Amino acid sequence: MTQDELKQAVARAARDYVADRLPVGEILGVGTGSTANFFIDEIAAIKDRLGGAVASSEATAQRLAGHGIRVLDLNDIDAMGIYVDGADEIDGSMAMVKGGGGALTREKIVAAVAGTFVCICDASKRVQTMGRFPLPVEVIPMASAYVSRELAKLGGTPKLREGMVTDNGNLILDVHGLAIADPVGLETRINQIVGVVTNGLFAERGADVLLLASAEGVQTFYADAVR
Ligand code: 5RP
Repeated sequence: MTQDELKQAVARAARDYVADRLPVGEILGVGTGSTANFFIDEIAAIKDRLGGAVASSEATAQRLAGHGIRVLDLNDIDAMGIYVDGADEIDGSMAMVKGGGGALTREKIVAAVAGTFVCICDASKRVQTMGRFPLPVEVIPMASAYVSRELAKLGGTPKLREGMVTDNGNLILDVHGLAIADPVGLETRINQIVGVVTNGLFAERGADVLLLASAEGVQTFYADAVR
């Protein structure tokens, strides 16, 4: 199977998960990226069950709206049952690296509100130790040089993502060469650097459910089993 076929398969499994577990009329959080795009296309079929969707990026909001799915402002809702999103890497503790698409800050905000974070990935994203995928860090533009120097002190090599301005008007530094042995500690440490908006480690609030697609099918993992 191609990677796109695996993404399609996991998107379908996530649609079924939502149809089974999200009560009719409740709000769904929707992530960003190519796997999330497959998921958006799938939930068009169940849009009448949804009270609406909260998007983690402008791109996702546009795609949802294109399917006639009502897009809500996060500030206008009190609760969100499920958030579905992809990841760049996920480890055995359900901690993730995200932000390959540059939407990490909004993704982290939407995830914070959600009752259940469902991560949808193909098997290439499952790793022993995260860090091979460069860790995205969203920074306030005037702080990018300072933050780069501070990130280098942590052992990584930050590179400015050329041509990228986030939906929040900020820049992304991709940090290469980190072996992330302590995801929660590193997430906290990087967020303490002045000028950092947030970083792409989702460890403090990791995934609750992982739907993982491989040639053998889509497997489901639960965080309760590993935390
Ligand atoms: C976007 C993200 C994505 O979830 C992550 O980059 C995975 O993307 P894809 O499904 O295209 O592999 O965090 O900011």
